[in-house]
Amino acid sequence: VVLIQSYKWILILTGLLYLAGVRSFVPEQEMETRIIGGQEAWAHSWPWQVSLQLDSMPACGGAIISPLWVTSAAHCFIRHTKASLWTVLAGKHDLDNPEEPQQQVRLGSTVYNTQSKESDVALLKLEKPLEFNHFVRPIDIWMTPLPLLMKCTITGWGSTRENGPRVNRLQEVNVTILPSDDCNQYYLGRIRPSMFCAGKDEGGVDACQGDSGGPLSCFTGTRYELAGLVSWGVGCGRAKRPGVYTRVQEHAQWMSDTMGESDSGCDQTPGLAGLSLSADGVLSVVNVTESCPFFWPWQVSLQFNGRHYCSGALIHPHWVITAKHCGVRAKEDVAVLGLHDMKFLPVQTILIDKVFNPPQKAGFPPKSDLALLHLSVAARLGSEVSPVCVPEEDNSLDDTWSCITAGWGATKAKDGVDPDRLHHAGLTLVNESTCRHKWGGFITDTHICSHPAGSTSCMGDSGAPLFCQKHGTYFLFGVVTWGSWHCDSEKPAIFTSVSDYQSWINKMIIKF
Ligand code: ARG
Repeated sequence: VVLIQSYKWILILTGLLYLAGVRSFVPEQEMETRIIGGQEAWAHSWPWQVSLQLDSMPACGGAIISPLWVTSAAHCFIRHTKASLWTVLAGKHDLDNPEEPQQQVRLGSTVYNTQSKESDVALLKLEKPLEFNHFVRPIDIWMTPLPLLMKCTITGWGSTRENGPRVNRLQEVNVTILPSDDCNQYYLGRIRPSMFCAGKDEGGVDACQGDSGGPLSCFTGTRYELAGLVSWGVGCGRAKRPGVYTRVQEHAQWMSDTMGESDSGCDQTPGLAGLSLSADGVLSVVNVTESCPFFWPWQVSLQFNGRHYCSGALIHPHWVITAKHCGVRAKEDVAVLGLHDMKFLPVQTILIDKVFNPPQKAGFPPKSDLALLHLSVAARLGSEVSPVCVPEEDNSLDDTWSCITAGWGATKAKDGVDPDRLHHAGLTLVNESTCRHKWGGFITDTHICSHPAGSTSCMGDSGAPLFCQKHGTYFLFGVVTWGSWHCDSEKPAIFTSVSDYQSWINKMIIKF
């Protein structure tokens, strides 16, 4: 029964997905002209079109891309960023009729805006999913280069003439995709690669005020896909002033990342950790959040008898780096790879067969708190298990890098994170002289200091890695060593600087 049930669901789901961009109703005859130079659309024939209303006033258009998500123009939200002020009307044709039987009304739950001025695209998450049917349906994003001079359709409830009033019934008009070079001449170089122009050189067909954020839908031969969003223009329908549209494809990555992060409840780019002291004197770490499952595929849990005692980082199919003070025992302890939640089975568990420490003099605290662990069999690499780079010896860590630490264990995190699930936080670095000032002579040039929140006593995990990126590739710069015992806000966290041991690490890898 379960099988039949899920099979039925798969059929229903593929049925719905397959319908993205497919119109249920197409007009039987041409009608009077409207939008700018367009006509009233056949009712419900653009089922991905929505009206975005601010305090029940139609303000912008938008397009449905999934049951919970609508895309529109970022400039619609600039002065009204609060999602709950926005209502999404789907399945509408006549905005003057508040009770159309096909309509579905949803409140906004979150607005996501791109940061840059040049990308006029926003995502609005709905409070409750839309139900797809003939009148309400999503559209997929156009992902190949847009053919020049292709004809596409824009739709909206905006003005039908410059400075004219908005209209009640949905309008449509066909526009031609224009070469950006021509358009840049009209608009004196203001057309960025994230925009394109459509309309006619001689004017007469265009979007206008109130159409913003609405879809420019192009027919692929079998269905419509979303190529543009109404963004801006000078006047409406003027000659040599075509409409300018957001090139949605350019933002597809941002859109899927944003929706993915929001829907999974984890975040891929953690904020910077801080410490806060409550009125009753309780110290907590802010901005520690759950990692996305397997997003840091080099993160290793070191375990003995099924118990996690330290973290490490995979740097090679056969090698893991951790802190010496973790006291890993060869032939007893295991490296657990591809792990997110301790309550579930990991991707791989491998016995550690050799443990090496860099040569050093005795003393406390240990000068080089680093250990290289050799795995008895090579890790099988994949998307969930993959090594992190080791920085070169001359690679110095400065403000141009952004660093993250991740680990398990009970933290002093403010909103509480599940100690069984991998969590992380961004860490700002503390320069050597400030660090020396706070810690005294312990600090040497083989140490890296960060914001105090990075200490084991704050973040909850020993041996936790510090990995940093500046052009998208992460390098393992540090391994957490000793730090303050009680998550002291005055004491920077201290990491062993991995790059200082790079040649020793390489030598060991070649030798064994
Ligand atoms: N920014 C306008 C709005 O908020 C849309 C302008 C489109 N203008 C044009 N000529 N295509 O509704």
